Amino acid sequence: MEEKEKQKQRAAEAAARHLQDDMTIGLGTGSTAYYLILEAGRMAKAGMRLKAVTTSKATEELARSHHISVILPEETDCVDLAIDGVDEIDREFRAVKGGGGALLREKIVASKAKEVIWIMDESKLVERLGAFPFPVEAVPFGMPFVKQKITDMGAVPVLRMREDRPYLTDSGNYILDIKFLQDTDISLAAERIHNMPGVVETGSFRQMCSRIVVGTESGVKVMENPI
Ligand code: A5P
Repeated sequence: MEEKEKQKQRAAEAAARHLQDDMTIGLGTGSTAYYLILEAGRMAKAGMRLKAVTTSKATEELARSHHISVILPEETDCVDLAIDGVDEIDREFRAVKGGGGALLREKIVASKAKEVIWIMDESKLVERLGAFPFPVEAVPFGMPFVKQKITDMGAVPVLRMREDRPYLTDSGNYILDIKFLQDTDISLAAERIHNMPGVVETGSFRQMCSRIVVGTESGVKVMENPI
């Protein structure tokens, strides 16, 4: 296994130690969350009673195939702990998510959770956000309008494709991956974009998690939210 994968696995397994019997958990999406689901599945198989709200169809399938009981968000008022991956995060815990296309459900599940932990390899912790293309989910009908408005801001939006068709989210929407001009304040730009008719959600996740677990070459580094 290559080093980055090992770091993801270390972070996921360390975060999984926070899972407890009888918890309702939020399960994230992506290649780091994959290791979490495997670990939670081992715990469930060993007898831990876990109920999971999942952030994507892919995660739902994986969780079910690993003995984790899956419930719908409307079946619970409370998620005890949500654990998810992240695409980029700075030291003030401003993050970009949605590289896997699950930003809408991820934000809903994180918002319902009493506690949120994000897990990652070291490459995700950055000094400044902006290297990762910023995802925006919009309804297909509004897409040309949204794309034009974002271009008018001086940014470059690219419609995400899957083979030769637009990529469709689990909610049936499109995604734009945006490259901003250098020095753009991503949080401010995200607010502007969120207000555009047709936009469903953006990949800006500010102050949504209480701690991060970063896999490193030698183990894990845990950082608490400074704010
Ligand atoms: C899914 O839409 C994303 O927000 C993921 O949580 C994020 O892309 C991290 O994915 P990886 O763990 O695969 O890097």
